[in-house]
Amino acid sequence: MKRVLILGGGGFVGSHVCNKLAALHWRTTLPTRHQTHARHLQHLPQVDVVQADVHDPAVLHALVAGHDAVINLVAILHGDAAAFERTHVALVKALAQACLDAGVSRLVHVSALGADDQAPEKAPSMHLRSKSQGEAVLKQAAAEGLQLTLLRPSVIFGAQDKFLNLFARLQKIFPVIPLAGAQAQFQPVWVEDVAQAIVHCLETPRTAGHTYELCGPQVFTLKTLVALAGAYSGVRGGRGRPVLALPETLGRLQARLMAWLPGPTLMSLDNMDSMRVDNVASEHGLGLKALGITPASLGAIGPTYLAPLGQQDLCLALRRHWHSD
Ligand SMILES: NC(=O)c1ccc[n+]([C@@H]2O[C@H](COP(=O)([O-])OP(=O)(O)OC[C@H]3O[C@@H](n4cnc5c(N)ncnc54)[C@H](OP(=O)(O)O)[C@@H]3O)[C@@H](O)[C@H]2O)c1
Repeated sequence: MKRVLILGGGGFVGSHVCNKLAALHWRTTLPTRHQTHARHLQHLPQVDVVQADVHDPAVLHALVAGHDAVINLVAILHGDAAAFERTHVALVKALAQACLDAGVSRLVHVSALGADDQAPEKAPSMHLRSKSQGEAVLKQAAAEGLQLTLLRPSVIFGAQDKFLNLFARLQKIFPVIPLAGAQAQFQPVWVEDVAQAIVHCLETPRTAGHTYELCGPQVFTLKTLVALAGAYSGVRGGRGRPVLALPETLGRLQARLMAWLPGPTLMSLDNMDSMRVDNVASEHGLGLKALGITPASLGAIGPTYLAPLGQQDLCLALRRHWHSD
């Protein structure tokens, strides 16, 4: 039985990956900062959840040893420059070194669409600069023998996403949605397709040395995505709330105010900086099709988890009907 170490495996994407790996009889080691974060995966056969500090190089070396491959999904969306550097660069550097030292040559690393290992300094936000630097570090390790596959997803949707679910929830509370970056473009991709791509790369050695952009079949503006979240979740009988596109200055003011609110950050100035560049597939890049995956559309999947209870059954039945052709 093959063994894979999956960093960040208890999160949104990682949970789907772990389920697929269990079905394929991989033995998975899943380090987490808190056992409770991965409680929902502990029932899976051949999944070992261990509480560990992956930022400690000695701990990381011990974790990597004895595995056939590593998947890295650890990432943050909010934080200061030091937090991005620690999570997206220093950890990645230590991971690459641990892999090389332990002779574990296969690494599948999930980055983000918009990252550019050739010119990290040109990326528009701390998030994308640090993701780009992490990629550049890994490319160096690849030159020393690491069998590296890089995956760059656009925004990911699925039942537990923190994106469309958030916009659906906000529309259940507020009468109008003031929106920064309304015209920014995204090419949302289904979490199952992302997980399938990760597992496919893990099992397909010829994907080493390549970078794949993981995008869905359609491009949407942020404003349209918010409107769809409202419509799919049945707000105002499916009409959603009016979306008020904020000019840049007001959008930045809103992001500053949100940073002061208690609870998890919804939108930061750095997120706004990321949206300065469109989050869509590049013209000549490899994508899901090169991995043999036909990406699912938001229209087919969104209503199955955003629709009010009761309508979800109908949506699932319709989806099964479409896919039975
Ligand atoms: N979701 C999206 O829309 C999207 C879009 C583009 C790219 N991506 C990329 O896809 C990958 C997976 O994303 P996701 O949505 O699954 O993320 P997620 O749900 O937030 O999971 C990330 C995991 O990383 C671990 N983690 C977070 N901060 C950490 C830290 N400071 N130190 C150590 N571990 C930490 C957490 O594990 P524990 O809490 O168990 O320790 C968490 O489960 C990431 O590389 C992300 O950048 C995601």
